[in-house]
Amino acid sequence: MTLASIKIQAQNYNTMTKNPSIEKKIDSLLSIMTVEEKVGQMNQYNGFWDVTGPAPADGNSALKYEHLRKGWVGSMLNVRGAKDVRAVQKIAVEDTRLGIPLIIGFDVIHGYKTLSPIPLAESASWDLQAIERSAQVAAAEASAAGINWTFAPMVDVTRDARWGRVMEGAGEDPFLGSRIAEARVKGFQGEDLSAVNTIAACAKHFAAYGFSEAGKEYNTVDIGTSTLHNVVLPPFKAAAKAGIRTFMNSFNELNGVPVTGNSYLQRDILKGDWGFDGFVVSDWASINEMILWGHAKDKKEAAQKAVTAGSDMDMEGYVYIEALAKLVKDGTVRESLLDDAVGRILRVKFELGLFDDPYKYCDEAREKDVIGNAKHHEAVLDMAKKSIVLLKNDNNLLPLKKTGQKIALIGALASDKSSPLGSWRIASDDETAVSVLEGMKAYQDNELVYAQGPKVAMEQTSFLQEVKINTSDNKGFEDAIKAAKTADVVVMVLGEYGFQTGEGRSRTNLELPGLQQELLETIYDVNPNIVLVLNNGRPLAISWADAHIPAIVEAWQLGTQTGHAVAQVLYGDYNPSGKLPMTFPRTVGQVPIYYNYKNTGRPSNKDNNVFWSHYVDVENTPLYPFGHGLSYTTFEYSDLKLNKANYAQKEDVKVSVKVTNTGKVTGKEVVQLYIRDLVGSITRPVKELKGFELIELKAGETKTINFVLNKETLGYYNNQGEYIVEMGDFEVFVGGSSVTTLKSDFTLE
Ligand code: GLC
Repeated sequence: MTLASIKIQAQNYNTMTKNPSIEKKIDSLLSIMTVEEKVGQMNQYNGFWDVTGPAPADGNSALKYEHLRKGWVGSMLNVRGAKDVRAVQKIAVEDTRLGIPLIIGFDVIHGYKTLSPIPLAESASWDLQAIERSAQVAAAEASAAGINWTFAPMVDVTRDARWGRVMEGAGEDPFLGSRIAEARVKGFQGEDLSAVNTIAACAKHFAAYGFSEAGKEYNTVDIGTSTLHNVVLPPFKAAAKAGIRTFMNSFNELNGVPVTGNSYLQRDILKGDWGFDGFVVSDWASINEMILWGHAKDKKEAAQKAVTAGSDMDMEGYVYIEALAKLVKDGTVRESLLDDAVGRILRVKFELGLFDDPYKYCDEAREKDVIGNAKHHEAVLDMAKKSIVLLKNDNNLLPLKKTGQKIALIGALASDKSSPLGSWRIASDDETAVSVLEGMKAYQDNELVYAQGPKVAMEQTSFLQEVKINTSDNKGFEDAIKAAKTADVVVMVLGEYGFQTGEGRSRTNLELPGLQQELLETIYDVNPNIVLVLNNGRPLAISWADAHIPAIVEAWQLGTQTGHAVAQVLYGDYNPSGKLPMTFPRTVGQVPIYYNYKNTGRPSNKDNNVFWSHYVDVENTPLYPFGHGLSYTTFEYSDLKLNKANYAQKEDVKVSVKVTNTGKVTGKEVVQLYIRDLVGSITRPVKELKGFELIELKAGETKTINFVLNKETLGYYNNQGEYIVEMGDFEVFVGGSSVTTLKSDFTLE
């Protein structure tokens, strides 16, 4: 039986209506530019002293200066500070024939100097306003330092916690990821891109980098059309619809074609269906890497394939600058391809106001005034508190009493002032986070004893180096045991060293690194009254802790104000409201594990034999599910209602539910709405998040929450990449996590 369905036409999303005067200026500039100058705009060099990737052997400062002076550089990255940006901008504007200003990019991933929590942590807040505010603060500080383009938001959906870059995204769900992408774009770009405190944003990594096989960094990606369109692309599309001005492609291949050379993605979908009129920058030397992938035989072919596929700018690859002009001159590459790419780059530069005032972001007085101001610290503290997830709280061990208790604080991460900044701290300074120890000391009416315990990493490392985890030096155990022996409550801060997550940091093991698990079990034997505070950049497989430790708090890497955020939550001055944006596995063997899985043909052990979809050694359920998070109060859901039982295709499905705070303190709750499309031409997941609302309720208070489902949310992409809505039966679930069983149903006719 073929299901009746309706196709929804792909819309042209570009919301940045073209400005006719800018278009005229672009055309007149293009008409006088030489081929070399056009290629120059498509050439981005890394700063002269900072490297965020493997600097190509043939790149050097002298060459870069020479090309700058010739007008053969369109952009720089990793040049920062009003003074230094002014210096390079001056060369581009005053020493070259056409004086086209540079666009200055930087990885402002979760803040510039004053850091917010890592993006995965922010996503756990489900608080779109706070997330937008966090991006606004980042843009304010970065723009004061001469930067006018950030390589963020990273919107890669991923289901694999082994991958180091899960810390940089919004977790496993396309709907949550889309809403967060919109908030971040708005925060970075504001309403006026030419304003001095807004910067161009960049949706990355387009596309499917988060599906790196086995979670291994820079690995191949092989996924079906349905996963590409229903899971991977939605946040990118949301960013395009929100008016983002740039995209970055990625290192991976998609089904055998490196995305840098993938015209299906960059031309058919992004620039075609979605009507995107900004520009696409390659990731660091990803154009060259098509040679290593075995997709291009040399730089010439790599350049030809990349520009044909819609890669407009070459980041620190030296391929376009070396090969493109010749390819145009020998007729291999049509000059119109360069005109398209350069037009896009110039468009964003005009929109930023760089032609009106190329030095507008280079004001040293403003830099001093804006960076690190009190308002920014308040904003990142607020974001940090909202990002914390209470995973477990048996016998209400939390919140801690504020007086009359002896607290033992244990763990090297508790006094670590760098790890909480995460691995994308490259504009901030080490040792500038408020540590948990400092945050706890602010509560002075308890006796606090700190014992560091064993080191997590053997020595401090940097953005580029491998981390050597301590697996042998157990100095510190004795002090920790001594402190725990006489304490009323033990707070242990355990997890990952700051550079254990992030780019180039995939792990095959998701347990507590080094000697930390041994330390946890040792202290448990001495005093089981433990609050475990996790500092980590990815879901961890902490099954032993879940089985033994009464209270567990997920505190990620919370940025500059970490210590105050953690202490205020532990002492109850902020009632935790976070919900997991990514599933926590019982063991790494379950990975990839996610809530929106398919039912399979053998979902349960109904015949009581082994022939069903399962593992023989671990149950199918996760340790903590997507959307999970507790509060110091409790919530009750009731009265789930739909306005009808049967709907015509075009009708809105109206859903309402009552939520009551049944505890003793005010609390926030993320009310989540999921659907299940029971029968589809393409099988549908057992649950799909299609709505959420963050609410606050006083003790005893009840609110009615309303949702609307419609063709935008009830449909999916088929294997031809067409969005369709199919008639049939649906289930609706509402609750405080993805495992809610509060359900209703309806039929689309
Ligand atoms: C890195 C990352 C990318 C980043 C770029 C510039 O390799 O993959 O996310 O924006 O290079 O630092």
